[in-house]
Amino acid sequence: MESRLLARLTAYTPGEQPRDKKYIKLNTNENPYPPCPKIQKKKINAEDFRLYPDPDCRVLKEALADTLRVPPSHIFTGNGSDEVLSFAFAAFFDADNGPVLFPEVTYSFYPVYCRFYGLPFRETAVNNDLSIDFSSFTESKADAGVIFPNPNAPTGIAVDRKTIRRILTARPKDRIVIIDEAYIDFGGESAVELTGEFENLLITGTFSKSRSLAGLRLGYAVGNPKLIQSLEKVKNSFNSYTVNRFTQECAVDALRDIGYFEKRRDEVIRTRERIADELRKRGWDVLPSLANFLFAAHPTLPGEAVYRRLKDEGILVRYFDLPKTRNRVRISVGTPEEMKVFLRTVDGWNNDVSQLR
Ligand SMILES: Cc1ncc(COP(=O)(O)O)c(C=O)c1O
Repeated sequence: MESRLLARLTAYTPGEQPRDKKYIKLNTNENPYPPCPKIQKKKINAEDFRLYPDPDCRVLKEALADTLRVPPSHIFTGNGSDEVLSFAFAAFFDADNGPVLFPEVTYSFYPVYCRFYGLPFRETAVNNDLSIDFSSFTESKADAGVIFPNPNAPTGIAVDRKTIRRILTARPKDRIVIIDEAYIDFGGESAVELTGEFENLLITGTFSKSRSLAGLRLGYAVGNPKLIQSLEKVKNSFNSYTVNRFTQECAVDALRDIGYFEKRRDEVIRTRERIADELRKRGWDVLPSLANFLFAAHPTLPGEAVYRRLKDEGILVRYFDLPKTRNRVRISVGTPEEMKVFLRTVDGWNNDVSQLR
């Protein structure tokens, strides 16, 4: 029954959402805080649900355009940035041009999209400190285009706009560069302003992290209107109404409450820095993160043991079983209270670490 396409695929594995007991969830980089007060108090206008939503998300695009300081025609919206990314893979990469390039340590959905669309890909080496080695992108002789997150996931390591400009300047103008800015609001430098200058640059973003709206599913892309029209063409070849009414409304509320956004963002950043310090004091190796998570190695235990032990004790984190990442776990930044429990839990292991190896 299964098509040949499907038989070839290995699907992405999302972070677990178990229901067997109540966990402290530090495994999917959700925001630990609720969305802004206006959304919390929102009344559902169920009568309107009989009507399709605006397929062009006009009001939402105007609000996003205001926030990002670009014209609305430079914005695409979709059902989570995963959908926007998948549309971008369909729209801009061609197998005939060579492999899609992305770092060997990065968001694990990229190879899944490549396989889905039959695109060859090359995972480029990262440096010893797990930062991206951009020379593979700037010195590549033939490829279909590049994609990388900034900050990268699961490392949290970010690059500045100067570096991005250097990459774009060195790259061929007829090959797309996609920068996945899912975590940019937690301290990174956005490259959105470069989209006016580089017509081959597409930035994607999400409301799932800094806007606390993972459950509503909203992602977007920013780029030259020609790129945006290509994304619209893909969307209208699948499903014209990818962003529902309620999401469109709530997203506008989230964008307008700048004070709340900044307050929560700053809280996450403060907690991240404090927990990174605390873990380093305890001998963990913690990568410098500008995201809402830390990628950290316990002084003696491999990532899987840390993950299992934490899960047994009611805390979920994520580990990635690959050669360069299996000594670490990715810990999403929770509330100060959640992180206190996390630290107390790992402190409790000091006496019996030998039994865990
Ligand atoms: C790097 C990166 N990009 C994109 C996404 C997808 O975000 P969403 O589909 O919730 O917008 C994630 C989610 O964790 C991510 O880590």
